[in-house]
Order: sequence, then structure tokens, then C-alpha cells
Amino acid sequence: MADAVGSPQTGIPWWHGAVGYEIYIRSFADSDGDGIGDLVGARARLAHLAWLGVDAVWVTPFFPSPGFDHGYDVSDYRDVDPRHGTLSDFDAFSATAHDLGLKVVVDIVPNHTSHLHRWFAEARKSRDSAFRDYYLWHDPAPTGGPPNNWVSHFGGPAWTLDEASGQYYCHLFLPQQPDLNWRNEDVRAEFDEILRFWLDRGVDGFRIDVAHGLLKDPLFRDNPRIRVADSAADNWGVFFSFEHCYDLDQDDTVDIYRRWHRLVEPYGAALIGEVALDDPVRMARYIGGGALDSAFFLQPPWMGWEPAALLDAIRGMHDREPNRVSWAIDNHDHSRSVTRFGGGARGARRSLAVTTLISCLGGIPFLYQGQELGIGDGTIAPDDLADPIATRNEGALGRDGARTPMPWEPGPGNGFTAGTPWLRADDRPHAETVAGQMSIPDAPIHQYRALLGTRRAHPELGAGPAAWLDTGSAEMAVIRRGSMLVVANLSADYATITTGSPPISPVFSSAKDPMPTAAGSVRVPPETTVVFATPHRADTQEGPAHLVDTETRV
Ligand code: GLC
Repeated sequence: MADAVGSPQTGIPWWHGAVGYEIYIRSFADSDGDGIGDLVGARARLAHLAWLGVDAVWVTPFFPSPGFDHGYDVSDYRDVDPRHGTLSDFDAFSATAHDLGLKVVVDIVPNHTSHLHRWFAEARKSRDSAFRDYYLWHDPAPTGGPPNNWVSHFGGPAWTLDEASGQYYCHLFLPQQPDLNWRNEDVRAEFDEILRFWLDRGVDGFRIDVAHGLLKDPLFRDNPRIRVADSAADNWGVFFSFEHCYDLDQDDTVDIYRRWHRLVEPYGAALIGEVALDDPVRMARYIGGGALDSAFFLQPPWMGWEPAALLDAIRGMHDREPNRVSWAIDNHDHSRSVTRFGGGARGARRSLAVTTLISCLGGIPFLYQGQELGIGDGTIAPDDLADPIATRNEGALGRDGARTPMPWEPGPGNGFTAGTPWLRADDRPHAETVAGQMSIPDAPIHQYRALLGTRRAHPELGAGPAAWLDTGSAEMAVIRRGSMLVVANLSADYATITTGSPPISPVFSSAKDPMPTAAGSVRVPPETTVVFATPHRADTQEGPAHLVDTETRV
């Protein structure tokens, strides 16, 4: 483990200064030819992550699941789905990761279970079941319909009628994902045991799915409607036409994580929440203060190429919480940033420029599998779409584009599987595979590795004070971190940085373009982030980059 990353010896948590990597288990590596990724396959590929220079691996849910939401509908929290392996495969995966110096973060799904979980099967047997109150039940509205106007993230109402008992149950996602009742102490106690089960197996942390959703308004009030969605078939359009003040982000949700924090602390494990809120103030409530160690800021993965808005969002979150955010622009829930940012070489260039910026912030920058290849979304025939968002909502593409198999090698199956992948997609060409890029010296895989190496070699990039300098341009950010200077020029023009004397030297640039230097200044290419080492220290007022000029495109 590099010095940049915390260790028990120093008393600094392991995630301090670390870089994470998300494995979408179904699509990462298949060892047995059934077309579904598994832990044995993933274990055999861990050396790639170590080579790349990441510190921690987050594995998406591998627990037994009927798979309506591809693993995010868990039917047993203490086992491994046979399609992904066995508990001993998990132990072997974890041991190999640790041997390679990688921390293991498992994805816990506490907001909802599968409808096939034993608790729900018992709960729906009768209104008097001991498990009834594990879930959220409600009588129909006086008109006979759902009890309130809450909608599912995946389209349709957030309530389904259980015909047998005549009551509705709540589900913020699919009807096959009933929401747990976190106001029930028994549910809290169950999850204490589930966390302990994995902690005792040696996991280093949890990514907490829908961490902002666990508690709901006890009165189940209607959410205020803020606009009318254009089409009822557009799940996100409908979802975002409401202010989610009663179904998400209740003030007392954070108390659950205070309890979890006390539980995980003796193990030195980290709690990293998926807190899908855009408001940095609401986000920050979950982080620190004995609650979560970190939380994903998920506004950037929703955004297209809007440089000013991207920088504004990142800076807004960073200002509020400089050292504990988990930063990502890609994950398994969104179209890949290369595609969102314009596709092809241009999208790849922009994606690395933004990844470079977030890799120079405190907290935990995360890469998503394949991001290091600079690739866009996979190509899938409309009939092969498998994401419930796509299959439930007419015309929606859903999230499959980011979930196509990890391209390891050229050729059929791309080295992901010897069989037929669960999600059929066009094979990737040679230059979009890990093996293919290895022999191309300036391929993205080497740039990403150099970027992570830069963060590791310069611990100041991941810790300590960070001052955002005034650039005079909404499409540029210049951050001074100790002796490091990070210049993110997301504009379409060159930008001249006045460096003064002595000159500063670039230690990493996200683009290969020449960077003309003149006495006392350096020109940073468009859509490029450059990391400089400077002779100046943070504790002095002097420093380079007092002045930034954007120029007309050359
Ligand atoms: C999270 C997961 C997503 C899943 C949803 C419901 O947002 O990242 O993949 O569908 O929760 O569990």
C-alpha cells in the first residue's frame, strides 16, 4: 500500500487517499462459460486492478437473487448466488485482493429485498405475520387506488396491491423489490447481523445502495408535484417531476448510519453511501459526524458535456465536503461518460480530463470497469435490452449500454466468456480491449495508470488544503494543493497560465497535445487537465497561476 493511502499504523482510515474501482460482477469476468460474470473470474483479473494502481475494489451485489434488477433484488444477504460462485469463492477473491494490496468493498442493499426473500414471503402470508412489519404496508386510498402519489424510480407507482391481504406494499424500485420498514427495530437488528457476517469474513467496507432512501415519511404524505412530465412512459421524467421530500432523504435516516458506524469501526471498515442527492448541504449531512465515511456524489454521472455546469457541481460539493466525497463520472447506472461527452476520441478526451480533475480531489475517486479503456457504451440490439428500465418503459434505453461485458481481449466474447454473454452486445475491436491497449504506448489504459500513479506519487493531490483559484472562466478550474497545481481547462480554447518564475513542470496531462511554454507562462490545451508540481508551498501566499487567460481556439 502506498504512503498516500491510510493505514492502521498511522491511525488514518484506509480509504484516505485511496482510489476505488467498481466491478459490475455480471459483466466483469466469467470463469465457467455460463455467460454471467463470477467471483472466480473476477479473482483471476484482480492483478489488472493492482497493475492499474487502484487501492480498493467495490463489487456489485453477488448475493442470491432472482435477478429482476440484476442482483439489486437480494433474496439472501448471507450467501453467494450460484451463478456468481460460492462463499468460498468470495473468501478466495478477498484473500487474493488483500494479497495484492486491494481493499474489498461489498455492495449492501438495505432499502429493499427481493420479493422472494423469506421475510417478504412470510410477511405477505397474513396481516398477523411476525414479518409483516418488516415491510411498508398501507390500506388503499379511499378511492381504492394506491395510498399516495409516490412513483417508482423505474416507472409506475411505488405501490403494488397484495390481493390476498387487500393492502398495498411500497417499492421505490420494482414491485419485485419491496421496501423494508427501517422504523422497525427488528429490521435494524437483522442488518447489524448481516454487516457482522461480512465484516467477520474480512471485508473492508460497504457501498450502501440507496442510502438516502431507508426511511420514509411516517405519515406517507404525497410528494409535491413540481411539473407535469412530458410522457408517462419516461420513468425519469415522471420521477423528477416530483419533489421527493417524503419518500427519500428523511432527516433521521442518518441515525441508522451512526449505528452502523459504531458497529463497523472496530473492524476499521468504511461505509460509503450511495446518496443520490444533488444538494451538497443535504449530502454532507450523511458524511462524517460518526455516520458515513464517504458518499458518492452522483450529479456528474447524470451530466452530458456541459463544462461549466460540471465544474460548478463538482466545486459546489467539494466546497462543502473537501475530503470525504466518493467521486465518479461513470458507474453501472449511467451511459458511459465517453458517450455522454460526445463519443469517440473527443468523448474519451473529455472523460479523462474530468477524471483527472476528480482524481486530484480529497475523498475517493472511483473508476468503473472499462473506464480505463476510454470506451463508450456497448452496442446492443433493441430486442436484447435487459435492464428493467428498458423493458418496462416504451422507448427507454435503460442502463445496459454501460453494462456490456468487460472487453479483455480481441475476438468473440472479448475474453469475458467462452459462452454467450447474458447481455448480448457487439464485440469490441482490438483497440478497445485490455490486451489490445497494452501494446499501444499512448492508449488510454496507460494514461489512466499514469494518472493513478501521479496521485500516488503526490499525496498532496488527495489530502490537505485545496484552494480553488479564480480563473475568470466558468469552464476552467485551477486548484492549488500544497505544492501541486491542477489546471482543468474544459473550454474549447487554449488557456495561458501565468506561472512566474521559477517555471513549473507538468507531471501529468490528460491529453498528448503539446503544451507550449514561454518565459513565465504555459499554454494548456483545450479540454485538458494538467497536473503541475511547483516549487511553491501551500502555506505561503506566493504561488503560480495568479492569472489565467483563455485564448481563441488555434
Ligand atoms: C442503486 C443501484 C442500481 C439499482 C438501484 C436499486 O441505484 O446502483 O443499480 O437498480 O439502486 O437497488
